[in-house]
Amino acid sequence: MSKKTTPYKNSTLGKKEQVTQMFDTISENYDGLNRVISFGIDVKWRKKVVRIVENAKPDSILDIATGTGDLAINLVKTGAKKIVGLDISPGMLEVGKQKVIDAKLNNVISMIIGDSEQLPFEENTFDAVTVAFGVRNFENLEKGLSEIYKVLKPGGTFVVLETSVPTKTPYKQGYKTYCKFILPTIGKIFSKDRSAYKYLSESASIFPYGEKFNNILRKIGFINVEDRPQTFGVSTIYIASK
Ligand SMILES: C[S@@+](CC[C@H](N)C(=O)[O-])C[C@H]1O[C@@H](n2cnc3c(N)ncnc32)[C@H](O)[C@@H]1O
Repeated sequence: MSKKTTPYKNSTLGKKEQVTQMFDTISENYDGLNRVISFGIDVKWRKKVVRIVENAKPDSILDIATGTGDLAINLVKTGAKKIVGLDISPGMLEVGKQKVIDAKLNNVISMIIGDSEQLPFEENTFDAVTVAFGVRNFENLEKGLSEIYKVLKPGGTFVVLETSVPTKTPYKQGYKTYCKFILPTIGKIFSKDRSAYKYLSESASIFPYGEKFNNILRKIGFINVEDRPQTFGVSTIYIASK
């Protein structure tokens, strides 16, 4: 079981409600802040996810925790006929919906409100499922992953992009300094919600990564599980199938 952290320490709400509230609050600034926080490398990581999904030649893709839709929009390059972006935060989804309209992609992408721990789809619906920077926000990680397993078709591909922690010197030390000093400063300067940035670095530091996350995927039933650390290990792409 992974350790838990929540955005608002004094709140009486559960993690799911707090996470929804936090992303609703930061939704307007999210894309810009993402670029600043990751020095723009997040764009490259999402492109890699798209290339992996493309190899599976999917007709239908579900992008869970789609947020403002960057990955869903990029996934159009796979040639899939149907892409569904699902997110629990109405604020994030509003921004995403507008981006889909602006890109004239509403014939391929539908953006819907939903909870990854209770997916509104039949078993074996999608050829591929993706989650970028979403799984560490799930209230119940294993429940969310089981739901994903359920809606993925047998033989289907599951790709996760998530933060991880570098294990090698000097990246390990550099990453710690970044999380302790640089990220909170960026949060203070750019965000209306300082606790959001504390939560983002705190949740990244305690979330299982590498072989630990592989084992959670295997426990759910996924096979051919593989992890590919990116940029000194500050994020990892996980690939698995059903
Ligand atoms: C860090 S953002 C990532 C957004 C997008 N995938 C990206 O790569 O930029 C995390 C997203 O996960 C969503 N989320 C958190 N818990 C969720 C859940 N249980 N079901 C669906 N979405 C969830 C949040 O609302 C938020 O939009």
